[in-house]
Amino acid sequence: MKVRKAVIPAAGLGTRVLPASKAMPKEMLPIVDKPAIQYIVEEAVASGITDILIITSRGKTTVEDHFDRAPELEARLLASGKQAVHDEIVGISKLANITYIRQKETKGLGHAVLCAKTFVGDEPFAVLYGDDVIIGGEKPACKELCEAYEKYGKGVAGIKPVPMDQISKYCSLKVEDMGDEQGILKVTDMVEKPMPTQVMSNYSILGRVVLPPEIFPILEKTAPGANGEIQLTDAMKVLAQTEGMVGRQFSGDRYDMGNKFGILQAIVRVALEHPEVKDQFRDYLKQVAAEL
Ligand code: UTP
Repeated sequence: MKVRKAVIPAAGLGTRVLPASKAMPKEMLPIVDKPAIQYIVEEAVASGITDILIITSRGKTTVEDHFDRAPELEARLLASGKQAVHDEIVGISKLANITYIRQKETKGLGHAVLCAKTFVGDEPFAVLYGDDVIIGGEKPACKELCEAYEKYGKGVAGIKPVPMDQISKYCSLKVEDMGDEQGILKVTDMVEKPMPTQVMSNYSILGRVVLPPEIFPILEKTAPGANGEIQLTDAMKVLAQTEGMVGRQFSGDRYDMGNKFGILQAIVRVALEHPEVKDQFRDYLKQVAAEL
C-alpha cells in the first residue's frame, strides 16, 4: 500500500538547546534561512506524502503560522516588487495538506505518535522526528523508507551506525542480514538508551520510520520506559518481535537539531551550499580555520 500520510512530532520541550528553545520551538530554529521543520515537510512532500499531521504543544504556534498564509507580508512584498520572495513565501503555505493536533502533556515520542491515531486511520504512515533534518543523499530519506515499506510490507526504520561510545544516547538494534538489497537489514529487537550490557549493535534509528497502523494498539499498552516517557522504540520493539521490521540505511546526512553541535553542523553544511552566501561563507570559514 502506498504511504501518503506523515506525522511530524514537534511537541518536545527541547531542553538540550535551552535557552534558544524557551520561547521558540527548536523545530523552528533556522538552518541559514529556513526553519528546521520546513526542511522536514519538504522532504515528506518530495517523498510523495500528501497529508501531514504536525504534533505541537503549548508555545509552538509559530509552527502553524509558518505554514499559513501571511497576507500583509505578501502584499508588502508584491508592492515592493519582490515577486520571487513573495512566491516563495506563498509556496510554503501550499506545500501539503497540513493539520495540527496538540499533545497536552509531554509524555514522550510514543505518546506523541499515539495522538495521530485518528488522523492515520487504517493506513501505513511515515514518522519524521521534528528535530532530525536529513540533507543530501540519492533520494529523500522518507522516500527510501516508503519504498522499502511498499516492497516488504513491514514497518521500516531509518537506520545508521553510530559511534559505539555514544550508543547509550540512542537506541540499539538487533539486526540480521537479509541477503537482499544493499542497505536493507532485518530488525528483530531494539532497546532505547541501552545500558552497556544491553547493546545489541551500534545500529540505531535516526529520525525516520514508516509504520503500519498495527502500532497503535501496541502503543496504547506501552508503559513509560526510559526517562519515564512512553517510548516509540518500546512499541516498535514489540512490532519487530512479532511482525518483524526492516531497517533501511538512508543515504542522506542526518543533523540533530535538538543538540547544539548538531545545529552548528547543519548550518555549516547548508551555508556552504547556499547560492546566496556560499562563496562569502567559504572564505570566512577558511580565514577562521587559519587562525585556529
Ligand atoms: P526528543 O526526545 O529529541 O525531544 O524527541 P525533546 O523531548 O524535546 O528533547 P530534550 O528535551 O532536548 O531532551 C524527538 C522528537 O519528538 C518530539 C520532539 O519535539 C522531537 O521533535 N516529541 C518528544 C514530542 O512531540 N512529544 C514528546 O513528548 C517528546
